[in-house]
Amino acid sequence: MAARIIDGKQIAADIREELKSEVSALKEKGIVPGLGVILVGEDPASKSYVSAKEKACGDIGIFSDDNRLPAETTQEELLELVGKMNRDPKINGILVQLPLPKHIDESAVLLAIDPDKDVDGFHPMNVGKMMVGEKAFLPCTPHGVVQLLKRSGVETSGAHVVVIGRSNIVGKPVANMLLQKKEGANATVTLCHTGTKNLAHFTKQADIIIAASGWPNTVTADMVKEGAVVIDVGVNRIEDTTRERGFRLVGDVDFEGIKEKASLITPVPGGVGPMTITMLLFNTVESAKRANGID
Ligand code: GUN
Repeated sequence: MAARIIDGKQIAADIREELKSEVSALKEKGIVPGLGVILVGEDPASKSYVSAKEKACGDIGIFSDDNRLPAETTQEELLELVGKMNRDPKINGILVQLPLPKHIDESAVLLAIDPDKDVDGFHPMNVGKMMVGEKAFLPCTPHGVVQLLKRSGVETSGAHVVVIGRSNIVGKPVANMLLQKKEGANATVTLCHTGTKNLAHFTKQADIIIAASGWPNTVTADMVKEGAVVIDVGVNRIEDTTRERGFRLVGDVDFEGIKEKASLITPVPGGVGPMTITMLLFNTVESAKRANGID
């Protein structure tokens, strides 16, 4: 079977159009959603992610308060800025780009963000609410994965989902979201990680594979059941001297091999990637609505 390719760019564009209309309607009520963005240091990948986030805000009418701080910024200075944003009524969401420089305690910074403005969904309060199935800000990449499945017509209820990777940003939350007794979830979830013996034993049983290991070719065609749905969260740079920039992006799965066997598969780039920023916009609009008693 040749797989249908899930067009993440198109699905993300559809959601952004919906959000743009919502933002216009809010503006008529005098409400402008605002996102505070903080980047510490010069990491090139982080800089490009943050620029993309700021541009995406502008495109749909969200105000973004952009703060680029030097790598030497102290934890105290960073916490002060977070505190200022917590108190600023124009700011509905706060995004501190990770990773932070080594001298800053990441969890102390995440803990300082007002949970009602935690549009990344990383604060333990939101993580806990998500886990017990209460309304919470959901972290953007896993929320994007769930939306891709939903909008591609994939039935998750009763399906066996195998997640590969146990990061706090992707693996653990996506597993958690999909096991909830809710529409668009209700799956049987197996979470595999670097401690898993015989990964293929589990992936071969999966109706849906979500790969978030951070390594190219973690999943190859022989590890996939005929007709499975494969969602690739990986973004890995591999050397490619035929490209001007010297590298190309690949995911965590062997796309070329698996696309002959799967029923649906996400490409890299153009699959999960565009959904992450989209769900950040979604959370920021949600937060602005909540702050104004709408919802
Ligand atoms: N670094 C990598 N992914 C993310 C993300 O989703 N949010 C933030 N704040 N930092 C990241």
